Amino acid sequence: MYSRRSPTPAGHGTDPSKERSLKRVTFIGSFPAADFRLSPALPEIALLGRSNVGKSSLINALVERKALARTSKQPGKTRDCNVYRVDDRLYLVDLPGYGYARLSHGERRRLTSLMNSVLAERRSLEGAVWLLDIRRDPSEADLAMGERLARRGIPVLVATTKGDKVGWSKRKERLRDILQAVNLPSDQAVVTSAITGEGITDLQEAIFALTEQEGKA
Ligand code: GTP
Ligand code: MG
Repeated sequence: MYSRRSPTPAGHGTDPSKERSLKRVTFIGSFPAADFRLSPALPEIALLGRSNVGKSSLINALVERKALARTSKQPGKTRDCNVYRVDDRLYLVDLPGYGYARLSHGERRRLTSLMNSVLAERRSLEGAVWLLDIRRDPSEADLAMGERLARRGIPVLVATTKGDKVGWSKRKERLRDILQAVNLPSDQAVVTSAITGEGITDLQEAIFALTEQEGKA
């Protein structure tokens, strides 16, 4: 398992009287280095995944806004840490994607170092949503990310993306194969689609549960 403390399964163990929506969201800023200061200090949840996997699209779906985070058909769109505050409860940190070959050597190094520094140095980082394309087997870069997360002991939720691209009958099979490859259990995973909204409510709940669990630890 990649987390020391496994997150509460999506949709369970949450207080229904609390507002579960991530709608009240403000864009805080775009930061080129990992040492940005956020005030007030709140739990931070990073969105991680290979370039073009759908991180920025998933943020838009999570916060129920069409174009808060910028998306693109071209990989390599997000080049900084884009931070969004959800009420006074948590920050979502949209990171550049990894594994995109068509960047200059220098730019790739900068983005990798930014991502690694966020994971290694930000003390308020309380969890990660790790995005994996449901159609693809995890790449070497994905597996390396999984190991980094495990070493750091960050609680992880897997969001398989682009669920709308795979027929219903194939989904279970794809999810099972992906989770097997990254060695994570199904209660830490949600199939999502930024297009149809599939899995978004479950993921919202799981993110809240992560931060609440951390608060009690
Ligand atoms: P970088 O910032 O370059 O790392 O990419 P990203 O991971 O933020 O991906 P982004 O959200 O920009 O989406 C990449 C492409 O995938 C865009 O063309 C999106 O429209 C498409 N996409 C994202 N999510 C989904 C989804 O759930 N279903 C489908 N069909 N397409 C999606
Ligand atoms: Mg992006």
